[in-house]
Amino acid sequence: MKVVIVLAICALTAVAAVPIPEDQRVNGENGWYIPKVDGSSYWVSTEEGEQMLADLEKKEEMEGRILPVPVTFYLYTNKNPSKGQKITETAKSINNSDFDANNPTRFVIHGWTQSYTAGMNKDIRAAWLGRGKYNVIIVDWARARSVEYASSVVAVPKAGQKVASMINYLVEKHGMSLETTEVIGHSLGAHVAGFAGKNTKNGLLHAIVGLDPALPLFSYNKPNKRLNSNDAQYVESIQTNGGGLGFLKPIGKGAFYPNGGKSQPGCPLDVTGACSHARSCAYYAESVARDDFPSMRCGDYQEAVKDKCGSSYSGVKMGAVTNAYMVAGDFYVPVHSSAPYGFGA
Ligand SMILES: *[C@@H]1O[C@H](CO)[C@@H](O)[C@H](O)[C@H]1NC(C)=O
Repeated sequence: MKVVIVLAICALTAVAAVPIPEDQRVNGENGWYIPKVDGSSYWVSTEEGEQMLADLEKKEEMEGRILPVPVTFYLYTNKNPSKGQKITETAKSINNSDFDANNPTRFVIHGWTQSYTAGMNKDIRAAWLGRGKYNVIIVDWARARSVEYASSVVAVPKAGQKVASMINYLVEKHGMSLETTEVIGHSLGAHVAGFAGKNTKNGLLHAIVGLDPALPLFSYNKPNKRLNSNDAQYVESIQTNGGGLGFLKPIGKGAFYPNGGKSQPGCPLDVTGACSHARSCAYYAESVARDDFPSMRCGDYQEAVKDKCGSSYSGVKMGAVTNAYMVAGDFYVPVHSSAPYGFGA
């Protein structure tokens, strides 16, 4: 009897813990490499990763009242291009700010470990304000700064709901139009943007731009739990560290693959992927400022990854504002190793 029980326990543990050999691990397919603050990462299987999220969600539910998801908004306009005005969902706050519903609005959402002072925010903000009159609202979500990546992932849906709440308030009480509102998010912030889009009332956002949407602990086949192509009238993705920190499979209705989407020129020894991952922001800011990223149209994303999309330009430019009206498909984008990155007008 004892032997049988021992054997049974052995069999159970063997089934539960069959590890995936290192050479068979495919990030995002049978598990994830989860980033750590020191730049290193560790592997978890899909089951382990999902269990990790489920445990954290349960813990948060129980501690709900002491684990808020604070989200703060800083408005920049052509009147205050470099010093943000903190705005809240009150008439007094919005009336006292330089928000002008006659101008288009852009929300920008940072990724893990970052804040509203992140360099990408400055670059993207400067690019839009350089084009004309805009309300640029930089989002700060404090839970992005959890030491544990998974803890930030768990906060993504609620952070997105808070962004949606501000959007709905500005639409309902201050005349902002969803038709002229776009949300831009980098990495984990791209998924926050997705949840903002899922929660708008009275219609869809005009566009969401996902800058190398984060891959660790997100699944391609669970689109309701990540940024997906239905979260706005048009969703564009700029994928620069695919299969590493970002998705390789196409996220946007228009999915753009600079240099094939996995790694970027000018990022040598990019072991962590951080350099290639951040390039998505630099490319986007440049595209807003210069509209200089011509692309080749591909049959599918695998062709884009392999740079097998021919040599003739498609007429579609990565990040172009008109994309929202006409673009669908996967695109290869040639890039230079230093700024200006695009191949030109
Ligand atoms: C804000 O502005 C609107 C429109 O100008 C006005 O109707 C409202 O009373 C103002 N509210 C506050 C609290 O200042």
